[in-house]
Amino acid sequence: MASNTFDTDLLAKMDNVCVAEHETQKDADRQLADGIAKEEAPKLDAMETGNQKVVPEFYNKAQKYWAEVPATVNGMLGGLGYISAIDIQGSKNFLREIKVPGKKLALDCGAGIGRVSRNLLMPLFATVDLVEQDTAFAEKARELCTSEAGSRRNSLGEIYNVGLQEFSPTHKYDLVWCQWVLGHLTDQDLVAFFRRMRRSLEPGAYFCMKENVSSSKTIIKDDEDSSVTRPLVLYEESLKEAGFRIVRKVRQQNFPKGLFPVYMIACRPKT
Ligand SMILES: C[S@@+](CC[C@H](N)C(=O)[O-])C[C@H]1O[C@@H](n2cnc3c(N)ncnc32)[C@H](O)[C@@H]1O
Repeated sequence: MASNTFDTDLLAKMDNVCVAEHETQKDADRQLADGIAKEEAPKLDAMETGNQKVVPEFYNKAQKYWAEVPATVNGMLGGLGYISAIDIQGSKNFLREIKVPGKKLALDCGAGIGRVSRNLLMPLFATVDLVEQDTAFAEKARELCTSEAGSRRNSLGEIYNVGLQEFSPTHKYDLVWCQWVLGHLTDQDLVAFFRRMRRSLEPGAYFCMKENVSSSKTIIKDDEDSSVTRPLVLYEESLKEAGFRIVRKVRQQNFPKGLFPVYMIACRPKT
Protein backbone atom coordinates (compact mmCIF):
# COMPACT_ATOMS: atom_id res chain seq x y z
CA MET A 1 0.00 0.00 0.00
CA ALA A 2 1.33 3.42 -0.93
CA SER A 3 2.27 5.51 2.07
CA ASN A 4 1.12 8.68 0.37
CA THR A 5 -2.58 8.58 -0.49
CA PHE A 6 -2.77 12.21 -1.50
CA ASP A 7 -4.52 12.07 -4.86
CA THR A 8 -3.72 15.56 -6.12
CA ASP A 9 -5.58 15.03 -9.35
CA LEU A 10 -8.71 14.03 -7.51
CA LEU A 11 -8.42 16.82 -4.98
CA ALA A 12 -8.06 19.30 -7.80
CA LYS A 13 -11.29 17.96 -9.25
CA MET A 14 -13.08 17.85 -5.91
CA ASP A 15 -12.09 21.28 -4.68
CA ASN A 16 -13.25 24.14 -6.84
CA VAL A 17 -11.02 26.57 -5.04
CA CYS A 18 -7.37 26.32 -4.21
CA VAL A 19 -7.06 27.08 -0.52
CA ALA A 20 -4.13 29.38 0.16
CA GLU A 21 -1.87 28.55 3.06
CA HIS A 22 -2.98 31.47 5.24
CA GLU A 23 -6.66 30.72 4.61
CA THR A 24 -6.11 27.14 5.66
CA GLN A 25 -4.52 28.35 8.87
CA LYS A 26 -7.45 30.71 9.49
CA ASP A 27 -9.82 27.79 9.04
CA ALA A 28 -7.78 25.69 11.43
CA ASP A 29 -7.91 28.47 14.01
CA ARG A 30 -11.65 28.84 13.57
CA GLN A 31 -12.13 25.09 13.92
CA LEU A 32 -9.96 25.12 17.00
CA ALA A 33 -12.00 27.91 18.57
CA ASP A 34 -15.18 26.16 17.51
CA GLY A 35 -14.01 22.91 19.07
CA ILE A 36 -13.22 24.64 22.33
CA ALA A 37 -16.54 26.45 22.32
CA LYS A 38 -18.33 23.14 21.74
CA GLU A 39 -16.43 21.50 24.56
CA GLU A 40 -17.69 24.25 26.86
CA ALA A 41 -21.29 24.07 25.66
CA PRO A 42 -23.93 23.14 28.25
CA LYS A 43 -24.64 19.49 28.84
CA LEU A 44 -27.39 18.02 26.69
CA ASP A 45 -29.53 15.36 28.26
CA ALA A 46 -29.14 12.10 26.35
CA MET A 47 -32.89 11.78 25.94
CA GLU A 48 -33.40 15.21 24.46
CA THR A 49 -32.54 14.19 20.93
CA GLY A 50 -34.95 11.26 21.25
CA ASN A 51 -37.87 13.50 22.15
CA GLN A 52 -40.52 13.23 19.41
CA LYS A 53 -41.17 17.00 19.42
CA VAL A 54 -37.59 17.98 18.59
CA VAL A 55 -36.90 15.23 16.04
CA PRO A 56 -38.25 16.79 12.79
CA GLU A 57 -36.67 20.13 13.71
CA PHE A 58 -33.34 18.41 14.43
CA TYR A 59 -33.27 16.81 10.95
CA ASN A 60 -34.71 19.78 9.04
CA LYS A 61 -32.15 22.12 10.52
CA ALA A 62 -29.28 19.84 9.53
CA GLN A 63 -30.67 19.54 6.00
CA LYS A 64 -30.83 23.34 5.70
CA TYR A 65 -27.32 23.70 7.08
CA TRP A 66 -25.80 21.25 4.57
CA ALA A 67 -27.76 22.79 1.67
CA GLU A 68 -25.65 25.93 2.14
CA VAL A 69 -22.31 24.11 2.23
CA PRO A 70 -20.23 23.97 -0.99
CA ALA A 71 -19.91 20.55 -2.60
CA THR A 72 -16.14 20.41 -2.08
CA VAL A 73 -13.74 18.51 0.16
CA ASN A 74 -13.28 21.69 2.16
CA GLY A 75 -17.05 21.91 2.56
CA MET A 76 -17.25 18.30 3.75
CA LEU A 77 -14.48 18.85 6.29
CA GLY A 78 -15.57 22.19 7.76
CA GLY A 79 -12.77 24.12 6.12
CA LEU A 80 -10.12 21.52 6.94
CA GLY A 81 -9.82 20.01 3.49
CA TYR A 82 -6.10 19.54 3.98
CA ILE A 83 -6.68 16.77 6.57
CA SER A 84 -8.40 14.57 3.97
CA ALA A 85 -5.25 12.66 2.98
CA ILE A 86 -4.31 11.97 6.63
CA ASP A 87 -7.85 10.87 7.33
CA ILE A 88 -7.97 8.49 4.37
CA GLN A 89 -4.57 7.02 5.24
CA GLY A 90 -5.72 6.39 8.84
CA SER A 91 -8.84 4.64 7.52
CA LYS A 92 -6.81 2.55 5.07
CA ASN A 93 -4.54 1.38 7.89
CA PHE A 94 -7.58 0.54 9.99
CA LEU A 95 -9.23 -1.50 7.24
CA ARG A 96 -5.97 -3.30 6.53
CA GLU A 97 -5.79 -4.32 10.20
CA ILE A 98 -9.31 -5.71 10.38
CA LYS A 99 -8.99 -7.61 7.09
CA VAL A 100 -12.47 -7.46 5.59
CA PRO A 101 -12.99 -10.84 3.87
CA GLY A 102 -15.54 -9.88 1.19
CA LYS A 103 -14.58 -7.49 -1.60
CA LYS A 104 -17.81 -7.18 -3.55
CA LEU A 105 -20.06 -4.51 -2.10
CA ALA A 106 -19.51 -1.67 0.40
CA LEU A 107 -21.83 1.07 1.64
CA ASP A 108 -20.76 4.64 2.44
CA CYS A 109 -23.22 6.28 4.86
CA GLY A 110 -23.52 10.07 4.94
CA ALA A 111 -21.26 10.02 1.92
CA GLY A 112 -21.32 13.73 1.08
CA ILE A 113 -19.57 14.27 -2.27
CA GLY A 114 -18.07 10.78 -2.19
CA ARG A 115 -14.69 11.68 -0.68
CA VAL A 116 -14.52 8.43 1.32
CA SER A 117 -16.08 6.30 -1.42
CA ARG A 118 -13.70 7.55 -4.06
CA ASN A 119 -10.48 7.45 -2.03
CA LEU A 120 -11.01 4.64 0.46
CA LEU A 121 -13.76 2.26 -0.60
CA MET A 122 -13.72 2.15 -4.39
CA PRO A 123 -10.10 0.97 -4.60
CA LEU A 124 -11.00 -1.92 -2.24
CA PHE A 125 -14.49 -3.03 -3.27
CA ALA A 126 -15.92 -3.96 -6.65
CA THR A 127 -18.98 -1.79 -6.08
CA VAL A 128 -19.78 0.96 -3.59
CA ASP A 129 -23.28 2.19 -2.73
CA LEU A 130 -23.78 5.59 -1.11
CA VAL A 131 -26.38 7.11 1.19
CA GLU A 132 -26.50 10.90 1.22
CA GLN A 133 -29.45 13.12 2.15
CA ASP A 134 -28.35 16.23 0.22
CA THR A 135 -29.25 16.17 -3.49
CA ALA A 136 -26.41 18.43 -4.64
CA PHE A 137 -23.81 16.36 -2.77
CA ALA A 138 -25.29 13.16 -4.19
CA GLU A 139 -24.99 14.57 -7.72
CA LYS A 140 -21.41 15.65 -7.12
CA ALA A 141 -20.63 12.21 -5.68
CA ARG A 142 -21.98 10.57 -8.83
CA GLU A 143 -19.77 12.78 -10.96
CA LEU A 144 -16.63 12.21 -8.88
CA CYS A 145 -17.16 8.49 -8.41
CA THR A 146 -17.78 7.76 -12.08
CA SER A 147 -14.85 9.70 -13.56
CA GLU A 148 -12.00 7.54 -14.75
CA ALA A 149 -8.82 7.56 -12.68
CA GLY A 150 -5.91 6.15 -14.65
CA SER A 151 -6.73 2.73 -16.00
CA ARG A 152 -8.94 1.71 -13.05
CA ARG A 153 -12.63 1.39 -13.79
CA ASN A 154 -14.86 3.04 -11.27
CA SER A 155 -17.43 1.03 -9.46
CA LEU A 156 -20.25 3.21 -8.27
CA GLY A 157 -23.42 1.30 -7.40
CA GLU A 158 -26.60 2.91 -6.07
CA ILE A 159 -26.85 6.37 -4.58
CA TYR A 160 -29.68 6.53 -2.04
CA ASN A 161 -30.72 10.15 -1.62
CA VAL A 162 -32.29 9.79 1.81
CA GLY A 163 -31.52 10.42 5.49
CA LEU A 164 -29.94 7.56 7.43
CA GLN A 165 -32.86 7.70 9.86
CA GLU A 166 -35.11 6.51 7.00
CA PHE A 167 -32.69 4.29 5.13
CA SER A 168 -33.40 0.56 5.03
CA PRO A 169 -30.85 -1.38 2.98
CA THR A 170 -32.06 -3.85 0.40
CA HIS A 171 -28.61 -5.29 -0.34
CA LYS A 172 -26.13 -7.24 1.78
CA TYR A 173 -22.77 -5.55 2.32
CA ASP A 174 -19.19 -6.71 2.93
CA LEU A 175 -18.49 -3.41 4.67
CA VAL A 176 -20.63 -0.56 5.90
CA TRP A 177 -18.67 2.64 6.60
CA CYS A 178 -20.17 5.66 8.41
CA GLN A 179 -18.06 8.77 8.77
CA TRP A 180 -18.78 12.14 10.32
CA VAL A 181 -22.53 11.73 10.06
CA LEU A 182 -23.81 9.80 13.09
CA GLY A 183 -23.96 12.98 15.18
CA HIS A 184 -26.85 13.94 12.92
CA LEU A 185 -29.00 11.08 14.23
CA THR A 186 -31.01 11.17 17.43
CA ASP A 187 -30.07 8.62 20.08
CA GLN A 188 -33.13 6.50 19.25
CA ASP A 189 -32.57 6.64 15.51
CA LEU A 190 -28.90 5.83 16.01
CA VAL A 191 -29.66 2.49 17.66
CA ALA A 192 -32.40 1.69 15.14
CA PHE A 193 -29.98 2.52 12.30
CA PHE A 194 -27.28 0.30 13.82
CA ARG A 195 -29.81 -2.57 14.01
CA ARG A 196 -30.74 -2.20 10.33
CA MET A 197 -27.07 -2.09 9.37
CA ARG A 198 -26.35 -5.22 11.41
CA ARG A 199 -29.00 -7.07 9.45
CA SER A 200 -27.56 -5.82 6.14
CA LEU A 201 -24.15 -7.46 6.61
CA GLU A 202 -22.88 -10.49 4.71
CA PRO A 203 -21.45 -13.27 6.89
CA GLY A 204 -18.00 -12.14 8.14
CA ALA A 205 -18.67 -8.53 7.14
CA TYR A 206 -17.91 -5.44 9.24
CA PHE A 207 -19.75 -2.33 10.25
CA CYS A 208 -17.32 0.58 10.80
CA MET A 209 -17.86 4.06 12.12
CA LYS A 210 -15.45 7.00 12.26
CA GLU A 211 -16.71 9.90 14.32
CA ASN A 212 -15.75 12.81 16.55
CA VAL A 213 -16.24 12.02 20.21
CA SER A 214 -16.41 14.37 23.18
CA SER A 215 -13.52 14.22 25.59
CA SER A 216 -15.91 14.87 28.47
CA LYS A 217 -18.69 12.50 29.51
CA THR A 218 -21.37 14.77 28.11
CA ILE A 219 -23.19 15.03 24.80
CA ILE A 220 -22.25 18.32 23.17
CA LYS A 221 -24.86 19.94 20.99
CA ASP A 222 -24.05 22.05 17.96
CA ASP A 223 -27.02 24.24 17.09
CA GLU A 224 -25.45 25.55 13.92
CA ASP A 225 -25.33 22.26 11.99
CA SER A 226 -27.86 20.50 14.25
CA SER A 227 -25.64 17.69 15.41
CA VAL A 228 -24.36 16.21 18.63
CA THR A 229 -20.88 15.03 19.62
CA ARG A 230 -21.22 11.99 21.84
CA PRO A 231 -18.82 10.47 24.31
CA LEU A 232 -17.13 7.34 22.97
CA VAL A 233 -18.83 5.20 25.59
CA LEU A 234 -22.27 6.22 24.32
CA TYR A 235 -21.42 5.00 20.83
CA GLU A 236 -20.09 1.77 22.31
CA GLU A 237 -23.24 1.23 24.35
CA SER A 238 -25.48 2.00 21.37
CA LEU A 239 -23.60 -0.48 19.18
CA LYS A 240 -23.91 -3.18 21.82
CA GLU A 241 -27.60 -2.40 22.31
CA ALA A 242 -28.08 -2.90 18.56
CA GLY A 243 -26.51 -6.37 18.74
CA PHE A 244 -22.94 -5.57 17.71
CA ARG A 245 -19.66 -6.80 19.15
CA ILE A 246 -16.81 -4.29 18.93
CA VAL A 247 -13.73 -5.93 17.47
CA ARG A 248 -11.39 -2.98 17.01
CA LYS A 249 -11.25 0.62 18.21
CA VAL A 250 -8.50 3.03 17.15
CA ARG A 251 -8.02 6.76 17.60
CA GLN A 252 -7.09 8.65 14.42
CA GLN A 253 -3.59 10.04 14.75
CA ASN A 254 -1.95 13.18 13.31
CA PHE A 255 -4.98 15.41 13.14
CA PRO A 256 -4.43 19.07 14.10
CA LYS A 257 -4.44 19.76 17.81
CA GLY A 258 -7.61 21.21 19.31
CA LEU A 259 -10.09 19.11 17.35
CA PHE A 260 -12.35 16.57 18.97
CA PRO A 261 -10.78 13.12 19.23
CA VAL A 262 -11.78 10.98 16.24
CA TYR A 263 -12.28 7.24 16.71
CA MET A 264 -12.70 4.37 14.27
CA ILE A 265 -14.70 1.42 15.55
CA ALA A 266 -15.19 -1.88 13.74
CA CYS A 267 -18.01 -4.20 14.75
CA ARG A 268 -19.50 -7.52 13.87
CA PRO A 269 -22.87 -8.93 14.80
CA LYS A 270 -22.88 -10.75 18.13
CA THR A 271 -23.20 -14.44 17.44
C1 LIG B 1 -19.17 16.19 7.64
S1 LIG B 1 -19.94 15.67 6.13
C2 LIG B 1 -19.08 14.13 5.91
C3 LIG B 1 -19.18 13.58 4.53
C4 LIG B 1 -18.35 12.32 4.29
N1 LIG B 1 -18.73 11.26 5.19
C5 LIG B 1 -16.88 12.62 4.42
O1 LIG B 1 -16.28 12.18 5.42
O2 LIG B 1 -16.35 13.28 3.52
C6 LIG B 1 -21.55 15.12 6.74
C7 LIG B 1 -22.45 14.58 5.68
O3 LIG B 1 -23.56 13.96 6.32
C8 LIG B 1 -24.72 14.28 5.59
N2 LIG B 1 -25.87 14.12 6.49
C9 LIG B 1 -26.28 14.96 7.46
N3 LIG B 1 -27.37 14.44 8.07
C10 LIG B 1 -27.63 13.27 7.47
C11 LIG B 1 -28.61 12.27 7.65
N4 LIG B 1 -29.56 12.39 8.58
N5 LIG B 1 -28.59 11.19 6.85
C12 LIG B 1 -27.65 11.05 5.89
N6 LIG B 1 -26.68 11.96 5.68
C13 LIG B 1 -26.67 13.06 6.46
C14 LIG B 1 -24.48 15.69 5.13
O4 LIG B 1 -25.35 16.03 4.06
C15 LIG B 1 -23.03 15.62 4.74
O5 LIG B 1 -22.88 15.18 3.43
